[in-house]
Amino acid sequence: MAAMDYSLTAGGKRLRPALTLGVSELLGSEITPAVLKAACAVELIHTYSLIHDDLPAMDNDDLRRGKPTNHKKFGAGMATLAGDGLLTLAFSWLSENELPELVRLRLIQALAKAAGPAGMVAGQARDIAGEGHHLTLDQLRKLHAEKTGALLAYSAVAGGIIAGASEDIIDILRAFGKAYGLAFQIKDDLLDVTATEAQVGKEVHRDAEAHKNTYPGLLGVEGAKQALQVALNDAKAARDALATQLAVNPVILDEFLGYFED
Ligand code: IPE
Ligand code: IPE
Ligand code: MG
Ligand code: MG
Ligand code: MG
Repeated sequence: MAAMDYSLTAGGKRLRPALTLGVSELLGSEITPAVLKAACAVELIHTYSLIHDDLPAMDNDDLRRGKPTNHKKFGAGMATLAGDGLLTLAFSWLSENELPELVRLRLIQALAKAAGPAGMVAGQARDIAGEGHHLTLDQLRKLHAEKTGALLAYSAVAGGIIAGASEDIIDILRAFGKAYGLAFQIKDDLLDVTATEAQVGKEVHRDAEAHKNTYPGLLGVEGAKQALQVALNDAKAARDALATQLAVNPVILDEFLGYFED
């Protein structure tokens, strides 16, 4: 379907599958075609979430990944279906591969939970419902944890599941992904205020226009930067805990943390 292809190949950062692959390799997995297919499922979900996020009925945005948004190119009906198709295809990629059955089942359960009404969809619903209403910092932290933290936590945990890691390691990966995800959404909120359209490939100053609840909106740019540092410190603490458990430096996590260096 051309509309699915259009957004998938528009060139996002592909951070989420890269995190799964990086973690699974760190924990000793070989990157086989099956691992690749399973790891990329989350990018299908993420791309679907962006297509729907941009729809006129949601954030009503015209530019994504440096190109016209899916609905601008194909119309809202086709963009809705492109999202539906990507969402469904993600679970085909997780279920139809050569990984052991239990690994597949655990990945399917974890992604369904992270992406669904207890995760990303819940956060998106809170985001829309909160437009024009003032959320407290605790409420906003929860919104960000759901809409962005859940998929990033899944991405880290998926690497552990693929590698057959212990529950202790998986708990640390989840803590890393949650903290990283909160930092990532705070940074996204900041970029909407401080970056240019050319830098981020999407229109800027859109959050204030849509009366969204954001960290800079609530705390100011300096306050949001401080909150970002707190979230990053939590991510670094999880990184250090993993280093201790594995008795090896998780250099790949440092590379992901490098995203936040200006
Ligand atoms: C954008 O995600 C939406 C958020 C969760 C902040 P990314 O910044 O990862 O977008 P792409 O995939 O690189 O386009
Ligand atoms: C979207 O958050 C997060 C998703 C789950 C899609 P935003 O609405 O802030 O993402 P951008 O700024 O449009 O990329
Ligand atoms: Mg949005
Ligand atoms: Mg948006
Ligand atoms: Mg944003």
